Amino acid sequence: MDKHLILIVEDDPTVGGSLQHLFKKKGYEILLASNGKEALPLFKKGNVDLVITDVVMPKMDGLELLEAIKSLRPETEVIVISAQGTIEKAVQAMKSGAFDFIEKPINPRVISLLVERALEKQTLVLQNRDLRSRLEEKFHSKNIIGRSEKMVKIFELIDHIAPYDSSVLIIGESGTGKELIANSIHYRSPRAPMAFIKVSCASLSEGIIESELFGHEKGAFTGAIASRKGRFEMAHQGTLFLDEVEDIPPATQIKLLRVLQEGEFEKVGGNKTMRVNIRVIAASNRDLQEEVRKGTFREDLYYRLNVVNIRIPALRERRDDIPFLVNFFIERYNQKYHMKVKGISQRAMNLLVDYPWSGNVRELENTIESILVINSPEVIDLTHLPEEIKESKSQPEVIPIKIGTPLEEVEREVLAQTLKATKGNKRRAAELLRINVRTIHRKIERGNDSYSS
Ligand SMILES: Nc1ncnc2c1ncn2[C@@H]1O[C@H](COP(=O)(O)OP(=O)(O)OP(=O)(O)O)[C@@H](O)[C@H]1O
Ligand SMILES: [Mg+2]
Repeated sequence: MDKHLILIVEDDPTVGGSLQHLFKKKGYEILLASNGKEALPLFKKGNVDLVITDVVMPKMDGLELLEAIKSLRPETEVIVISAQGTIEKAVQAMKSGAFDFIEKPINPRVISLLVERALEKQTLVLQNRDLRSRLEEKFHSKNIIGRSEKMVKIFELIDHIAPYDSSVLIIGESGTGKELIANSIHYRSPRAPMAFIKVSCASLSEGIIESELFGHEKGAFTGAIASRKGRFEMAHQGTLFLDEVEDIPPATQIKLLRVLQEGEFEKVGGNKTMRVNIRVIAASNRDLQEEVRKGTFREDLYYRLNVVNIRIPALRERRDDIPFLVNFFIERYNQKYHMKVKGISQRAMNLLVDYPWSGNVRELENTIESILVINSPEVIDLTHLPEEIKESKSQPEVIPIKIGTPLEEVEREVLAQTLKATKGNKRRAAELLRINVRTIHRKIERGNDSYSS
């Protein structure tokens, strides 16, 4: 690490000289000035880490200097030297933001300690700020695109609730950005310096989920050759993100409820009660309330998780975000692959905006990435778009239906026209109509004659 630079300002050459000597010996770089007027240009020029200044000096005194420094670079720490009879000025200096003051005659041990402490504090402040800005860069709105009214509302909500410890339940279709939002909440909360631990509940079999969440003691089950920390323990003082929370088996749901309510649990095979302080963010791409009605998800757990509810709309419900996302992803993959794709034609953009993105933002992102990788065009145009998006253009957009048409007939007509548009591709039609393929088959069978064309 670079040597710290200390600016010493003292009109008495004996005192100034001995301080210079003392701190040089300790390995600091020193600048020496005999009054504030001389000191200020030195301060402005260099990367001064710390200032030690006398109070009473000709031309510009210590207090004026202090104020000038604090307005130039507030993070600079200043230690003030006061002589007998100037203690009032020292107090005033403290009020103006001095780190501390020391009285003459100066005790070398005391001033050395003060200097160390001031520099430590400064390092911490700077590190903290650095961490903050790096985290913000990574997870702040810069990386979450959304200009639609619906997304702006979500961002406001996040801002509002991030500082609190309350549980958050994020509901949204696959690829809508649930994990991104969970991350953003954590990194905008006071827990940001601590861990953000993710558990993908769906990927864990019933047998191992408890040991994964709560940890286990050595010998708890065959194969438990050593004790192990669970995700709850790892997330202590931080945030635990329970992804696909609907997949937690009922027996585990009740234990999860206890952690949420009491902050307590036991490791698998252990009898010592552990205590943790965590914030829980849960996510699901299903309507959890429906799971509660069906009896697969505990109602009490649902309410515990659902203190703050964030529902991320599907991409097709906020089409005005699409152009911003497209440009954002072009930029992202330009950087990643060192490409220079300039943009996208209006015609191509229109198709992307109208396309029914069933895979949401992830699907859109993958589409842009593959266009760049496969074609690396100068400007993205219709020819570069994947077939299914190009084809989506030929779909008739509206069907005239008279008011008062019986619903059954409406359904039949919509189904028939959709099938026509997908050239008989039932899977695609089912996707567009957001029903499953089996339902389509059933409906076609029922209305056999009408679809036989
Ligand atoms: N608003 C957004 N701005 C920028 N990128 C986004 C946005 N929403 C999602 N993405 C990107 O889309 C991809 C999917 O996002 P994420 O993993 O957060 O979604 P998810 O809802 O958790 O999906 P799944 O349900 O499949 O787990 C990621 O690459 C993410 O960066
Ligand atoms: Mg996810």
